[in-house]
Amino acid sequence: IKRIRTHHLAEMKARGEKVTMLTAYDMYTAEIFDEAGIELLLVGDSASNNVLGNETSLPITVDELLPLTRAVARTAKRAMVVGDLPFGSYQASPEQAYLTAVRFMKEGGAHCVKLEGGAEMAPVISKLVQGGVPVIAHIGFTPQSEHTLGGYRIQGRGAGAEKLLADAHAVQEAGAFAVVMEMVPADVAEQVSKELDILTIGIGAGAGCDGQVLVWTDAFGIRSGRMPKFVKQYADVRSVLLDGAKAYAADVKAGTFPDAEHSF
Ligand code: KIV
Ligand code: NA
Repeated sequence: IKRIRTHHLAEMKARGEKVTMLTAYDMYTAEIFDEAGIELLLVGDSASNNVLGNETSLPITVDELLPLTRAVARTAKRAMVVGDLPFGSYQASPEQAYLTAVRFMKEGGAHCVKLEGGAEMAPVISKLVQGGVPVIAHIGFTPQSEHTLGGYRIQGRGAGAEKLLADAHAVQEAGAFAVVMEMVPADVAEQVSKELDILTIGIGAGAGCDGQVLVWTDAFGIRSGRMPKFVKQYADVRSVLLDGAKAYAADVKAGTFPDAEHSF
């Protein structure tokens, strides 16, 4: 199986073939999603609130996310593995960003990195690209800036559309090979996708993007509670695991497991 590379993704955009991306935080999800043909596996900082038990993505550190990245990179044979730079690990300076990104590639085995921000991150993006780090930008709603944006809110509405377009063009000019757009109006995301040469990947950004990304724990129903409007549930892994755990517990309590068949 040939590894997905940035030029494959560019070719997909050119021929109008949609690109798929899912988060993965461990070896088995990486193995399964790779087998399913997902082109990009994002070891998201969403591991903070999907693996580590935090409420948001803000607390996760580079040292916490690196081993998860390594696990996914060791396992995925075809997918491009995306390291997601944690809050505070790249915003201080292009130099800080470069050193962090290199850790994700050397220690984590990532093939590229993703970072949040638009025009203001252009110097960071060009520093990384010049230093051999392929970059995916992330604009629109950027979860690491939840507290400056005033909560989970749609970005790029009305007059905000101009800023979104400017951010998209700025990250392309800076050398990013793709851009994630989160929670933006579908028509604006479609316009960005048409104007840009680089790949656009939507999450809550409508059908006009070149690709889509979802957090796997949302999409396959392992997380409980209220989901954002943009999440479609494709499986109910939570009830499968819950039923399995209950059946196991019932067998053990009843003394029916282990039976002769499962004993030496
Ligand atoms: O960390 C993450 O899961 C992400 C996606 C929502 C794009 O950044
Ligand atoms: Na993220």
